[in-house]
Amino acid sequence: MERKGAQRHRVLELLEEHGGLAPGVAKRIEAETGVPEADIYGVATFYTLVARPGAKTRVCQGLSCMMAGAAEKLAELEAAGVPHEAVSCLGQCDRAPVAVDADLELVAWGPRGGVSPDDSELPMNLAGTDDPSWPALARAKVLGRDAVLAELKASGLQGRGGAGFPAHFKWDAVRREAAETKYVVVNADEGEPGTFKDREVMLRRPHLMLEGMAIAAWLVGASDAYIYIRGEFTRPLRQLRAAIAEADWGDLRVHVVTGHGAYICGEETALLEALEGRRGMPRLKPPYPTQQGLWGKPTLMNNVETLACVPAIVHRGGAWFKDQGRTEPGSKLYCISGDVERPGVYELPLGATLDELVEAAGGYVGTPKAFSPGGASSGFLPMSLRDTPLDFGHLAKVGSMLGSAGVVVLSEAVSMVDAAKWQAVFFEDESCGQCAPCRIGCRMQRQALDRFREGDAKALANVEAVAWEMDQGSICGLGMVASLPLTSAMKHFPDELG
Ligand SMILES: Cc1cc2nc3c(=O)[nH]c(=O)nc-3n(C[C@H](O)[C@H](O)[C@H](O)COP(=O)(O)O)c2cc1C
Ligand code: SF4
Repeated sequence: MERKGAQRHRVLELLEEHGGLAPGVAKRIEAETGVPEADIYGVATFYTLVARPGAKTRVCQGLSCMMAGAAEKLAELEAAGVPHEAVSCLGQCDRAPVAVDADLELVAWGPRGGVSPDDSELPMNLAGTDDPSWPALARAKVLGRDAVLAELKASGLQGRGGAGFPAHFKWDAVRREAAETKYVVVNADEGEPGTFKDREVMLRRPHLMLEGMAIAAWLVGASDAYIYIRGEFTRPLRQLRAAIAEADWGDLRVHVVTGHGAYICGEETALLEALEGRRGMPRLKPPYPTQQGLWGKPTLMNNVETLACVPAIVHRGGAWFKDQGRTEPGSKLYCISGDVERPGVYELPLGATLDELVEAAGGYVGTPKAFSPGGASSGFLPMSLRDTPLDFGHLAKVGSMLGSAGVVVLSEAVSMVDAAKWQAVFFEDESCGQCAPCRIGCRMQRQALDRFREGDAKALANVEAVAWEMDQGSICGLGMVASLPLTSAMKHFPDELG
């Protein structure tokens, strides 16, 4: 039971201010917020960045970083006596292998890597103007809410956060809610290994996203907009804050909240829990956030890239946006990393193929063997499927997904057993643990892979049955797809995992 007047939403902010869960901190925060000490402890232990305070180098263990020697980097730090820890993903796959220092500033060891954070150019335009006077918002107000919604519908814009849900449905649903208080939330938590496009939008084109957010807030009638940005994105955060300071927000209150190192907080309802100061555990749906979201109020949540597409749709019309795509509407920011010459973010028509994307990224390194088309959740595909359009529908048909479009290329030099293991470790570490099939299934699959690597030929016999349990018995998308890296590797690479 919450104490009267308790300021739960301040708990994470205060934990950060106090430097994490050091001795005595939970008691002090209890005094400041009225939230019981045990509860504060429970919240703090959920989040990597506050659970284990103390200066240390955090080394990324994501797929691209592991392929580029992250394990060796950890061993070097260990040998040199440098305080360190392994973390799931830092969203810097194009500069792999990477770490962050005690201030969360980037340490990039990568020999390749595309564009540096200081370069002004990037093969990305999203067609809007990065203009703090926000001409698209002014135009939207001239057109009126119905007309803007109609353009959004005509554009066919599908959410770019992973599920590909039509944007206009959610906007319309929140607009129709009768509640006096409504919120807009920007999901800038980008934490899936392979994915780093939202980072680039915030770093280089922050006004595109902010203007899209302002248009959304105006259209649905929101009083407040929250931007939940992952804590390790220090540089994009600075850019974002500078851009926010440049704009005239009128009546809209804008709040920037930084994440604390939990991938699951990218899931929309876990994100809402985190904003409310709780452990980031996904909620049961329905009710959907559009009905009962932040503090029970109707909430529109969109991904950074989704919102960044909106100004151009308002300026140039829905039909124009739709035409930018090939097999599905619009252009798309694809992330590419792994065994390619120039890892980075490239904007191509939605439905481009792997070869086209890799050509934009300077070509393959070595002989390609496999690719993961949409982050860890999308599993692995063989090169025989290289012509599959990288879109939501075609990838679903081959048992994969576009997800957040974090494409990783694996050359013949990479063992599929290792690759499946790195992804399994990721999901085991990042499961929030509230559903038994996900919590136990993630562990069983990782353990099965360990036994297989040690020579137990029958170790993978029950993987499919466990995967079925996980898919059927999980509340959220993490548990539903966590077995895909292993099951897809077994299906497509039987020589290595047969
Ligand atoms: C485990 C998990 C992690 C997710 N992580 C993100 C994320 O980092 N960023 C994001 O925008 N959406 C993420 N999503 C999808 C969100 O739940 C939600 O669908 C999205 O923010 C909605 O925005 P959109 O409609 O603009 O795509 C994640 C979903 C799951 C299941
Ligand atoms: S499926 Fe996994 S991550 Fe999702 S709510 Fe259940 S335990 Fe948590």
